[in-house]
Amino acid sequence: MVRSFDGTPVEPDWLDELCAQALWAPTAGNSAGVRMHTLGADQVGAYLALATDEAWRASSRRAEGLARAGGAVLVTSRPQDYLARYAEPDKATSGLDVEAAWSVPYWHTDAAMATMALLLLIEEAGWQATIWGSFRHAKELLDWIGAPDDELLGTVLVGRGDGLDVTSASLERDVPSRTSRVRRVRT
Ligand SMILES: Cc1cc2nc3c(=O)[nH]c(=O)nc-3n(C[C@H](O)[C@H](O)[C@H](O)COP(=O)(O)O)c2cc1C
Repeated sequence: MVRSFDGTPVEPDWLDELCAQALWAPTAGNSAGVRMHTLGADQVGAYLALATDEAWRASSRRAEGLARAGGAVLVTSRPQDYLARYAEPDKATSGLDVEAAWSVPYWHTDAAMATMALLLLIEEAGWQATIWGSFRHAKELLDWIGAPDDELLGTVLVGRGDGLDVTSASLERDVPSRTSRVRRVRT
């Protein structure tokens, strides 16, 4: 994750195309219920004004660097598309035509997969990004982008890193190594 950008704007057509590529990601039942909503550099300020609070903007050491992002992608999903898909004849026996029946809501899974694909495509293209959770004002953001019935997975802020990153305190956590998180099952 890179959280401080140098202000270089992304080219809107390029970002749209990258999102379309990312949507090659797998999608449960081919429900295709993930949407990517792109913003140009000139909209990042309005996005952050809605997505954050005044107190955070005044105190966070990251606020300025993030505001120099060259663009952003809000990733949303449409649960209703999954309920409709799993009500179709070939899926009807699953009983997944009601939201409460989903132990793993695949609309979130699909949105996460597409987001990961987008992050990799951004890296591959030589740009940088961060995924930002949406703990605040999700409803307002969804109204603002014109997708009031969607669920917001998060926002990918994209740009050219300027090397002034305030790294995440999360990185100092003593987490199990990646190799130790792989376990060969022996039964
Ligand atoms: C679902 C999800 C939500 C995240 N939300 C935020 C966020 O709101 N703000 C942020 O700065 N980083 C966020 N991150 C990034 C993580 O902090 C980061 O991936 C983790 O600390 C490991 O760092 P690295 O990805 O740079 O290796 C999020 C990551 C994921 C997967």
